[in-house]
Amino acid sequence: MKLVVAVLSLACVANAQWPLTIIDVLEKVGNETTLISLTKQAGLYNRLNGLGKVLEAHLVTGKVPIVDWTNDKLIPTVGGPNIRINVYDISRAAITLTANGAGVVNPDCHAIAGFVQVIDLVMYPLPNGTIVSEITSNNNLSTLATAVSKAGLVATLSAVNGNFTLFAPTNKAFSKLPPGVLDGLLKNVTALTNVLTYHVLSDVYNNVGLYYSSKLKTVQGKNVTIKASSRESIMVNNAAVLAEISTTNGVLHVIDTVLIPPTMHF
Ligand SMILES: *[C@@H]1O[C@H](CO)[C@@H](O)[C@H](O)[C@H]1NC(C)=O
Ligand SMILES: *[C@@H]1O[C@H](CO)[C@@H](O)[C@H](O)[C@H]1NC(C)=O
Ligand SMILES: *[C@@H]1O[C@H](CO)[C@@H](O)[C@H](O)[C@H]1NC(C)=O
Ligand SMILES: *[C@@H]1O[C@H](CO)[C@@H](O)[C@H](O)[C@H]1NC(C)=O
Ligand SMILES: *[C@@H]1O[C@H](CO)[C@@H](O)[C@H](O)[C@H]1NC(C)=O
Ligand SMILES: *[C@@H]1O[C@H](CO)[C@@H](O)[C@H](O)[C@H]1NC(C)=O
Repeated sequence: MKLVVAVLSLACVANAQWPLTIIDVLEKVGNETTLISLTKQAGLYNRLNGLGKVLEAHLVTGKVPIVDWTNDKLIPTVGGPNIRINVYDISRAAITLTANGAGVVNPDCHAIAGFVQVIDLVMYPLPNGTIVSEITSNNNLSTLATAVSKAGLVATLSAVNGNFTLFAPTNKAFSKLPPGVLDGLLKNVTALTNVLTYHVLSDVYNNVGLYYSSKLKTVQGKNVTIKASSRESIMVNNAAVLAEISTTNGVLHVIDTVLIPPTMHF
């Protein structure tokens, strides 16, 4: 079986032998001391060592060289969810390819068994369901889940073949709205849809994509403005991105403030 593996690393694997546990992989690549001690500190080491699923989600059968990577291509893995590829054609971007949001830093390294696509993050947690199943199962996003349901956007955002970005305000973000505004929105589907679609992009912009962007067109029609000092520090208009969550039909960015379209005033 030919394998492509994408692992946390700073350098190529010279002589990969199969099968490997994820810890074997981590020990064979990059700056192993830093790698293992960092993952240990994060409490990830033990979880990954026992969690074959995470390794399987990094393994692809068949050779998939970078030349075959296209935007929003879904690559099936040995035993995990598909890997979503994104290609960002942005001139100033240092990283233009991502795999489930992880940046490809060392493409097409050749190992004995196939290609190694070296990425800068472990793809974890793994995508688990659509954008809608994520917001309905996340306690911090229950107000958003209610709003999405009221606006009749559930079918769209659960489309299995979708390629969406959703900026997802937390319950706390909704509670920062002036008194009465949320109740008013929940009673007026036109206004609610206007606000919610301003949180949706019809393309997948993960943290890497956002980091290299400045203006992005929303489904509502108006643009949002992106300002980022790093991939971990991203502002969308006046909202801070708190977390990035990969889903099977796109990416969700948890934000701390509700985005209001420029034409709306409360
Ligand atoms: C490897 O990690 C050690 C400890 O953090 C660091 O001192 C060293 O510079 C790193 N080496 C490389 C090649 O990154
Ligand atoms: C995946 O989603 C399902 C359904 O929402 C949930 O029951 C399960 O705990 C999730 N698994 C993980 C690993 O988060
Ligand atoms: C919800 O928010 C709290 C506080 O910010 C955080 O500790 C927790 O991990 C969040 N839960 C989920 C499911 O994201
Ligand atoms: C998502 O992107 C893929 C790859 O370009 C494409 O095949 C698919 O049709 C897109 N989905 C939708 C709903 O447009
Ligand atoms: C609902 O919202 C729309 C768009 O903001 C507005 O034009 C309309 O007057 C509102 N309807 C009611 C009944 O308030
Ligand atoms: C909105 O964003 C798009 C995509 O970046 C850009 O081409 C367009 O010029 C922007 N429009 C405005 C009014 O800023």
